[in-house]
Amino acid sequence: MKLILLGAPGSGKGTQAAYISEKYNLPHVSTGDIFRQNIKDQTPLGVKVKQIMDSGNFCPDDVTVQLVEDRLQQSDCKNGYLLDGFPRNLFQARELDKFSAPDVVIELDVDLSKIEHRITGRRSCPKCGNSFHVDFIGDIKICPDCGETLIIRKDDTPETVKERLSIYSKQTAPLIDYYKQQNKLVVIDGNNPVDEVFKQIVKVLG
Ligand code: AP5
Repeated sequence: MKLILLGAPGSGKGTQAAYISEKYNLPHVSTGDIFRQNIKDQTPLGVKVKQIMDSGNFCPDDVTVQLVEDRLQQSDCKNGYLLDGFPRNLFQARELDKFSAPDVVIELDVDLSKIEHRITGRRSCPKCGNSFHVDFIGDIKICPDCGETLIIRKDDTPETVKERLSIYSKQTAPLIDYYKQQNKLVVIDGNNPVDEVFKQIVKVLG
């Protein structure tokens, strides 16, 4: 199964991806995670995209598309994948259709009024990539899953969230119609609690 998770920043893509990836044994390919790992490792790619990401803007299309094409050619993706954070605009979607068109696109639909709270309360693990919310973990500073010190992402400030949401509306939201026209779109109410959202996804995927 080739699956895409689509949704605004903070809609819960990463959270649901962890569950879906485990249940359906699909490799979780998150472009955001790949870029963050490159920044952490100070690779040439990481150096190139650090400022762009910190400001909430998109990394260049050519680099991003190539990165995904290379990743999907790896052996663990031969029976499918779970893409999180890609495609993010029509250009990327059309390019993906050329080398590995998705079967299903799940849109996590969340009221924009909830997004800022979700993102500014997020604590991320730089080691295992999991993220948590202070509403659930309180002021714990250590990752409950792997013991690493949790961080606040540089792009999780209220100002940057506004910028990311504005870019989402202009560039990513048109993908909803793009995949609707291809009859691949399934909309899930992402406002519900995490378990409930996952249940709805499983209902769709079977
Ligand atoms: P990326 O890492 O993909 O960020 P994003 O799309 O903005 O999404 P987030 O990671 O912020 O949120 P999420 O939807 O995964 O939510 P989460 O599950 O964590 O991209 C970052 C940057 O990388 C981009 O800005 C860009 O610069 C670059 N980039 C990446 N891909 C690119 C591309 N294709 N092209 C160009 N540039 C690219 O949940 C958020 C919070 O809410 C958490 O605290 C969580 O605990 C909580 N939560 C989750 N679900 C629920 C729920 N149901 N109820 C209550 N709380 C919940």
